[in-house]
Amino acid sequence: MTSAHHLVVITGANRGFGASVAHSYLHHSGASAVSFVLVGRNEQGLTTVLQELQEESRTSSEPVTVNGVVVGNVDLADTEHLEKNLERIQTAMAQLHNEAAQSKSTIAKSVLVNNAGSLGDLTKTAKEFTWQEARRYFDFNVVSLVGLCSTFLKDTQVAFPKETYPEHKTVIVSISSLLAVQAFSNWGLYAAGKAARDRFLGVMALEEKSNNVKTLNYAPGPLDNEMQADVRRTLGDAEQLEIYDDMHKSGQLVRMDDSSRKLVLLLKKDEYITGAHIDFYDE
Ligand SMILES: NC(=O)c1ccc[n+]([C@@H]2O[C@H](COP(=O)([O-])OP(=O)(O)OC[C@H]3O[C@@H](n4cnc5c(N)ncnc54)[C@H](OP(=O)(O)O)[C@@H]3O)[C@@H](O)[C@H]2O)c1
Repeated sequence: MTSAHHLVVITGANRGFGASVAHSYLHHSGASAVSFVLVGRNEQGLTTVLQELQEESRTSSEPVTVNGVVVGNVDLADTEHLEKNLERIQTAMAQLHNEAAQSKSTIAKSVLVNNAGSLGDLTKTAKEFTWQEARRYFDFNVVSLVGLCSTFLKDTQVAFPKETYPEHKTVIVSISSLLAVQAFSNWGLYAAGKAARDRFLGVMALEEKSNNVKTLNYAPGPLDNEMQADVRRTLGDAEQLEIYDDMHKSGQLVRMDDSSRKLVLLLKKDEYITGAHIDFYDE
């Protein structure tokens, strides 16, 4: 078990899979201290999640120190304010770096989980999309991810230069999907966005492999949550709709906490190949 201090940035951490990843990180990463940067649109929801994490850290059987900063009112689809919002995330990271240094609790691992995402319009087939909606979709799901990954990586490398901190590890995760590696009808923007994210992290893995940086594209499986309910409400393909309905009715959808625990344990074991795409159903 690694007894260490980790800094973990999660986008879309107020609800759904992002909140579940935060809770699983606290309980299963093996870290003795976690400094969270919780990012998203809903400031109140993010604050509630941070309070829950702090409460759970006090009552958990394995003592974990939780610190954190909420960066709310961040709409990742809004490129006009993206630079300002990235600066706010950088400021939050710098604050947690300083607090860790002051308490002489060196951060051993810095993790970015690019979780926030949207479905796009699943009623449409590829020929029905306009370039304007494609641009809006990719601004959120791809462009903001590039900005988040590059600022996170640069700031982490400035804060923990490898000459001074040879043991420090950096991890960048994209919450991916089966759609990144397999096409299904009506998922045009979603599939293209997830594939682009996977490939970007694949390139980053190669470029940074000598810098103690690893990347991972994690497909969490069909989750029993609000996004899946949206899929069942909007998906325009009858054959797939029947499969998703059956999975829902027969209780085969994946519990968010089971999937987020699998992700956190993958990160903890650290045996995955950097840049890989790993699915919840993989061995
Ligand atoms: N659900 C599934 O079955 C499934 C399967 C495979 C992959 N995934 C992936 O898992 C990730 C998490 O999805 P989920 O299932 O938890 O979906 P969800 O319940 O719809 O949650 C989406 C999260 O993204 C945030 N978000 C949405 N638009 C945003 C924006 N413009 N700016 C900032 N944050 C925004 C949401 O915040 P608000 O509360 O402000 O809306 C929320 O926190 C996504 O990348 C998704 O593609 C999900």
